[in-house]
Amino acid sequence: MNILGISAGFHDAAVSVINTQGDILFAAHSERYSKSKNDSNICRTLMDDVMNYFPIHHVAYYESPWKKQLRRLYSGEGIEWNQLSTKKILTEQFGGWAHIPSYSSHNHHLSHAAAGFQTSTYDRATVVVIDAIGEWDTISIYGAEYDRRGYAQYKKLWSQQYPHSIGLFYSAMTQRVGLKPNEDEYILMGMSAYGRTGHAASMQDALINNEWNVTFKHNLHAGADRTFMQDIHDADIAAAAQKTVENLIYNVMRRARDFNWSTNLVYMGGVALNCLANRNLGEYFENVWIMPNPGDAGSSLGAAALKYGRRINWVNAYLGHNIPGPYPVTSILDSLLSDGICGVANGRAEFGPRALGNRSLLADPRGPHIKDKVNEIKRRQKFRPFAPVILEEMADQYFDFRSGWSNSRYMQSVAQCRYPDRFPAICHYDGTSRVQTVPADGSGIRELLEKWFVLTDCPMLLNTSLNIKGEPMVNDRTDADRFEVKYGVRVFS
Ligand SMILES: [Fe+2]
Repeated sequence: MNILGISAGFHDAAVSVINTQGDILFAAHSERYSKSKNDSNICRTLMDDVMNYFPIHHVAYYESPWKKQLRRLYSGEGIEWNQLSTKKILTEQFGGWAHIPSYSSHNHHLSHAAAGFQTSTYDRATVVVIDAIGEWDTISIYGAEYDRRGYAQYKKLWSQQYPHSIGLFYSAMTQRVGLKPNEDEYILMGMSAYGRTGHAASMQDALINNEWNVTFKHNLHAGADRTFMQDIHDADIAAAAQKTVENLIYNVMRRARDFNWSTNLVYMGGVALNCLANRNLGEYFENVWIMPNPGDAGSSLGAAALKYGRRINWVNAYLGHNIPGPYPVTSILDSLLSDGICGVANGRAEFGPRALGNRSLLADPRGPHIKDKVNEIKRRQKFRPFAPVILEEMADQYFDFRSGWSNSRYMQSVAQCRYPDRFPAICHYDGTSRVQTVPADGSGIRELLEKWFVLTDCPMLLNTSLNIKGEPMVNDRTDADRFEVKYGVRVFS
């Protein structure tokens, strides 16, 4: 029995398919197919790929639609009709709603929790979910374990509810500095390195009612405009917001730790994408697992996991659309040695927001000029660095990871770069790098790094997502061809 998990109706719609053995057969974002960034609906071309995994015997939805609509009415947002579009497409694809043998909907935070716990290696874990808002819950702490039959059990230990939300706070501050809420939070995080944290106390005084319970004085769902702390520079707002969000997150982590359920932490929800805050999680738990797609899109896998009930066989994040053929190692090496930069679009696309080597723009990270060269293509804010991808066993020689992070295979945490002068393109202003470490897993990017190291004595490459400005990541060969034409950079498949 194949289970189709669906996350759709709000932002960044996605699907996941698992089989009776708990293997993930397919997982992908709708935006990569529709080319509409953060597409909230399932699109038909995505479903064409899902058809490869038919027959589907069950459809699992990532949240409870009626509870969500009730909360939307309460918050004055009105009924959300987007789901109807997804339902229409599903109905067409299955040849009528009646042909879907069974359907279930699951709690929003429980779907986040399952996407994390059931893909982890832990038999028992404390699960923390922090996001903007699902149905009503905004923060959840669960005790998770498997019963004797191997079925995951979740015991809710604590929760906070709308409108008190860490995610809504961070989105409001994103809006305050003129960025797009629900999309540009990672830019606010990057900006924070340039600011001073001195205004954090007054920000907290203005907004927070009780730091330990995470309650706010105002409903930040309404956002924040430039009249909030209006004389303060944007970078200082960003630094104060990052300091505040870290204080709140760490309070939740302390509370979660104090339940003494487990020293293993599974951390999920959109706020778990804050890799700057994540660097200190080792202070609260011995082991940390953040599934590489911790936001709502990843909950498509969580919904399927809840229906399945048992541990999911997590292998890696290469789960999406396939561009067949061997990884073009030789072509990439030749291009890097001659031009210093090239693209790769090969194998299965990454599930999650990070390019991990299958839909990547790669470059030689050494020297002062490469950052500008890559930015000619990416055209993003100059203050933002690019990320390194490195042979895992050599990562410690180049980066100083904090406790709890023995590796960073999905770029969930930052580490301090030991040689910022040698690798300025992959170091941020505060000396941190968002590192991807690659183990000896037989992947194409691993073979490429090994051969690059033999040729250059450098064990890392610069790695950024392969996308045309304003578009989602490249998905298929047609996208890669468009990229080549637009930027004059070769993309190998
Ligand atoms: Fe969520």
